[in-house]
Amino acid sequence: MRYASITERLSGLGSAKWEVHLRAVKLRAEGRDILMMTIGEPDVETPDGLIETAKKALDAGRTKYSNGRGEAGLLDALSKRYTRSTGRVIGADQFLCLPGTQSSLYLALTGISQAGDEVLVGDPMYACYEGVVRASGAKIVAVPMRSENGFRMQAADIETCITPRSRAILLNTPHNPTGAILTADDIAEIGALAVKHDLWIISDEVYEEMVFDNATFTSPLAYEEFADRVIVVSSISKSHAAPGFRTGWAVGSPEFTARVLPVAETMLFGNQPFIADMTAHAVSEPSEVAKAMRGRFAKRAGMVFEALDGVAGLRVNKPQGGMFVLIDASASGLASNEYAHDLLENAGVAVMPGASFGASLKHWVRFALTKDDAVVKEACARIANHAHGLKGMVA
Ligand SMILES: Cc1ncc(COP(=O)(O)O)c(C=O)c1O
Repeated sequence: MRYASITERLSGLGSAKWEVHLRAVKLRAEGRDILMMTIGEPDVETPDGLIETAKKALDAGRTKYSNGRGEAGLLDALSKRYTRSTGRVIGADQFLCLPGTQSSLYLALTGISQAGDEVLVGDPMYACYEGVVRASGAKIVAVPMRSENGFRMQAADIETCITPRSRAILLNTPHNPTGAILTADDIAEIGALAVKHDLWIISDEVYEEMVFDNATFTSPLAYEEFADRVIVVSSISKSHAAPGFRTGWAVGSPEFTARVLPVAETMLFGNQPFIADMTAHAVSEPSEVAKAMRGRFAKRAGMVFEALDGVAGLRVNKPQGGMFVLIDASASGLASNEYAHDLLENAGVAVMPGASFGASLKHWVRFALTKDDAVVKEACARIANHAHGLKGMVA
C-alpha cells in the first residue's frame, strides 16, 4: 500500500536515541543491578486532591463531548493563571486545551510552519522536537547553545542561523536537558530578533514550576512588544505529577487560536470534561507537588555536583531548574554513546547519551534527578569509580 510522506519523515525517528535506555531495561529484566538515571518522570504520585476532582467529575457525568477550545471552567482558570504570572491580561480566548505539551507543540508547528520552512531550535534540544518539526514538513536548524553561556540560547547565535526560510524560534525554558533558564534580557533580545525577522516564538514551558534556588522564570508572553507572535505550550504533566492524564494547552494571540482552532477540532473534536475539571483545579492554586520536587531535585543536583565535578576529569553543569543534570565526560575521550554504553555495562548506571539531544553534547551525558537520594548517591559513586578506571581520564 502507499503511504503519505509524513510516515517517511517520522520513520525510525529517534530509535537510536533510546538505545542505552532500552539496553538497560533489558539488562534489568535479566536480573542485573542497573541504576536507571535515564528518564525523568515526576517521582511522586498525582496528588489525591486532583484524582478526587477527576472522580467527582466522572460521577457527576462530565463525560460528554466538549468543544475544540476547551471547557469554559478550564479556560477561565488558565486565563486567571496566565494573567497573574505574566502581568498582562491573557483572555480565555487565547487558549486551546490539548492532551499535553507534546500535542500542543504538534498543533502549533502544524499551524505556523510547513515544507520549505525552517524552525530554529537550540542544540541540545528535547529529543521529541525533531518529530514535531519534521511532522509539519519544516526543517530544524540547530542553533548551538554553549556551556560557557550556561547553555542559554543567545539572540546573536540565533541571528547567524536566520535565512529567508526561517519561520519560528522554538524556546524551552527551563530547558531539558540542560536545566538552563532564559533571563529576562535573553528573552527581550530574542523577541526583538523575532520582530526584526518576522518570526514566531514558540515557548515550551512545561518545566515552569521546576525552578531551583534563586533562579527566576520569565515567559516571552509577558512582553507586550512581541506577545502577538508568542505561542506558549505547557501542561500539568510535570508541575502536578500527572503525565498520564495527558492534559495541557497552547496559549497565543486571539488571532492564532482562532486560526488554528479548526486544526484542533479536526484532530481531536475537543477533550475530556472530567480531565478539564481536574486541570482547572490544578492550575488554580500553587502546586505543592512542584514545590517539593523543586527542593528535592535542586538538592540532588547539588549532590551530583559535589560528588562528581572535577573527579577524574568529569565536569558537572549546575542546572537552574528542570529534572536533569548534565555531566561532561570529554576527558574520557569517548563519544557520549560509547561512554554511556561503557558506564552501563561496566558500572551498572544507565544515563542518556548527550548525542540523543544534539551535536553540542557529543561528550556529555544526561542524568535524571528523579530517583531517591540514596540511588543518586550510589549512581555517583559508581560513575566516579568507573571514571577513575577509564583510560584517558585525568587522575
Ligand atoms: C521539554 C519537554 N517538552 C514537552 C514534554 C512533554 O510534555 P507533556 O507530557 O506535557 O506532553 C516533555 C516531557 O518530558 C519535555 O521534557
